[in-house]
Amino acid sequence: SDAVLVTGIGELVTCAGADGTIAVDAAASVAQRLGLLRDAAVVVVDGVVEWVGRAIDAPAADRRIDVDGRAVVPGFVDSHSHLVYAGDRVGEFSARMAGTPYDGGGIGVSVSATRAASDDELRALLQARVAEMRALGTTTVEIKSGYGLSVADEERSLRLAAEFTDEVTFLGAHVVPPEARADRAAYVDLVCGAMLQACAPHARWIDVFCEPASPHAFTEVEARRVLVAGRDAGLELRVHGNQLAAGPGVQLAVEFGAASVDHCTFLSPADVEALVGAAGTTVATLLPGVEFSTRSPYPDARGLLDAGVDVALATDCNPGTCNTASMPFVIALAVREMRMTSAEALVAATVGGARALRRGDIGRIAVGGRADLAVLEAPSYEHLAYRPGMPLARALDL
Ligand code: NIG
Ligand code: FE
Repeated sequence: SDAVLVTGIGELVTCAGADGTIAVDAAASVAQRLGLLRDAAVVVVDGVVEWVGRAIDAPAADRRIDVDGRAVVPGFVDSHSHLVYAGDRVGEFSARMAGTPYDGGGIGVSVSATRAASDDELRALLQARVAEMRALGTTTVEIKSGYGLSVADEERSLRLAAEFTDEVTFLGAHVVPPEARADRAAYVDLVCGAMLQACAPHARWIDVFCEPASPHAFTEVEARRVLVAGRDAGLELRVHGNQLAAGPGVQLAVEFGAASVDHCTFLSPADVEALVGAAGTTVATLLPGVEFSTRSPYPDARGLLDAGVDVALATDCNPGTCNTASMPFVIALAVREMRMTSAEALVAATVGGARALRRGDIGRIAVGGRADLAVLEAPSYEHLAYRPGMPLARALDL
């Protein structure tokens, strides 16, 4: 086995308590959960954290990486992305900036381009996108399908995504594709039948874009059918909800015990109450890059945190509503636009994402957990929001 000593860490943020060993505890304060250590070191053996402590106390190792006073944080867990697509929608973005609101209709453009791409083209695009994420400090990414929307194109989207991550999500219920608009019910039948059967072997999760305000997305009744079928096929559940308007998405996700409900932009008091009651089961994943790129109001992160809701941050990286892979950018938005503290934003981008993916082995730097480390070109994690748009974070290659 190969023991690597990562030392010279000016500020180590473990997100796991100062001794690097405590389990994720929802009741702990943010300061406790941040687990900050100065002049620290980490020993990694075969990709797993074996020791965390002060650099002067560090045991010997086979190799040594000195980060020269930089800050080290857990690699970001981006629990929501749509990376399997071809083409772009920059024209739609420019039209939106000139006043055309987003309604999900542009997804059809990405579906056409994705269907026309070869497996090798999609694989190369995925490879480049995952590499971009790693270069920005992301060490785990969830990848959804949803631009195939036929049995064959959804199946290959997931098969290709699985080459790059364990966190693969079947999103056949993204929108009703153009050729199926005359018979929505038949498309929902297909998603819950032949498409699910072909896709389930490649996926851990199923997701649905439940948004009655969009003519392209799915109603509560339709979304319920998708979630039941997915659960019966052995998939775990996630929901896109309350992005464009108040609606049934959040309550549906909570009712089904989904791991996460994502967007949460337009919430009623009853939605917040449901999320409070679901803390420990259903995470509210906020995607403020979407509000940035669609010029929408930001979710009430402050209200959710103060009420006791489990909050995660993710990019939603996709060609329509948010074409950035940068978790540091999302953290900066969370702090500047949603009034999260830098500590809350970092926890939401690491531990929060891990909880949204029901993973105990990532999102923290803790003995026995995966050694997914991000090095910052800065002395402290607070620089992530303080220096927006700067290339501060990268995943550490051990
Ligand atoms: O999460 N809301 C639905 N799906 C994506 C956007 C997809 C697209 O516009 O291409 C989202 O925002
Ligand atoms: Fe999304």
